[in-house]
Amino acid sequence: MTQKQTEGGDVRLTGISKTYGSFTAVHPLDLTVPQGSFFALLGASGCGKTTTLRMIAGLEEATTGTVSLGGRDITDLPPYKRPVNTVFQSYALFPHLDVSENVAFGLRRRGIKSVAKQVGEMLDLVQLGDFARRKPHQLSGGQQQRVAVARALINHPQVLLLDEPLGALDLKLRRQMQLELKRIQTEVGITFVHVTHDQEEAMTMADTVAVMNGGRVEQLGAPADLYENPRTTFVANFLGTSNLIEGQIVSTGTDVVVSAGGGKLGLPGGRCPSSARSGGKVLVGVRPEKISLTHTDDAAAIPDGRNRVTGRITDSSFIGVSTQYVVESPAGTALQVYEQNIERDSRLVPGADVVLHWNPEHTFGLDAAQHIDAGAEGMEEAA
Ligand SMILES: Nc1ncnc2c1ncn2[C@@H]1O[C@H](COP(=O)(O)OP(=O)(O)OP(=O)(O)O)[C@@H](O)[C@H]1O
Ligand SMILES: [Mg+2]
Repeated sequence: MTQKQTEGGDVRLTGISKTYGSFTAVHPLDLTVPQGSFFALLGASGCGKTTTLRMIAGLEEATTGTVSLGGRDITDLPPYKRPVNTVFQSYALFPHLDVSENVAFGLRRRGIKSVAKQVGEMLDLVQLGDFARRKPHQLSGGQQQRVAVARALINHPQVLLLDEPLGALDLKLRRQMQLELKRIQTEVGITFVHVTHDQEEAMTMADTVAVMNGGRVEQLGAPADLYENPRTTFVANFLGTSNLIEGQIVSTGTDVVVSAGGGKLGLPGGRCPSSARSGGKVLVGVRPEKISLTHTDDAAAIPDGRNRVTGRITDSSFIGVSTQYVVESPAGTALQVYEQNIERDSRLVPGADVVLHWNPEHTFGLDAAQHIDAGAEGMEEAA
């Protein structure tokens, strides 16, 4: 299957929800997955990703709402009548069948006898042409995973659902397979809906990411847009790391001025929540890599117009491409700063007094009526 899929259409979820007794696993959800896109459902354990995916597959009956594909309502279709295939975390290959018979399975079941050509194409697509006669136990995890993908794709589904398919792989192989799956998706042009709790994985692979939290989609967008413009503290903290500083709005307009940590910080009005008004509270956000660190002795050299916060380094870790600093300041007890290792200032060690400074344009504002730590590491269990 080297041709791009042209028929079919968008997957549309309308008011879809799932309750188990009195527990709501998925709150009424409206979601459109454009045809041919690579879509990721991202969220912590238990947030409702698998349940959502299973409702698309028809493996779980929706409590309310509808699922449609290309404008056709498929809510009441049994799983095997939906043009959808699923790849699960446990690949569930048939152990007694070799690779090519595993891939041929869907065709054989439909009574198709001459499978060689299609199986050959599929094995080429997942780059396993030389492994056709091996049994699953003679393959690595990544190779087994590719067999599972080929076995699903040979049925020409309109939509491929992937539930943590890389979960069992070690980090390096995961990275490799992320790029590999992305390549396959681009080549076949089928809609992929990929479930993961790994934010890097979602951002690497997907055109669009839906960030789920507690059975709801908190925000949906392109990876860079979600990263640069998080709208909730959960998204700001779950997708990478954010410094969130509590402040009070001094003035609004094209630029917003906030009083925070004993000083003033600026940010674009367009990056503030619509509820922002003078005198109100706001959370000022900035990503660690946007911040520069200057020793206090050199503070006079910092250009005008930058946001500044003074503090003291409490911790630093050298991780090769960057050094990650933790800074204690009136603006926050553990501000994170990532500095690229180009010219390292040997004075920047724990105990040093520093000025953190950054371009106000790189600052976002969030509604202060949220838990500041939502979605942060170690908060997932509590959430
Ligand atoms: N059959 C069931 N009966 C009762 N509760 C269920 C059932 N299946 C799932 N749940 C609950 O629904 C919630 C969502 O489950 P789901 O499997 O969708 O989470 P998930 O986001 O896929 O998590 P994970 O990353 O751990 O796979 C969880 O709190 C789970 O305990
Ligand atoms: Mg799951």
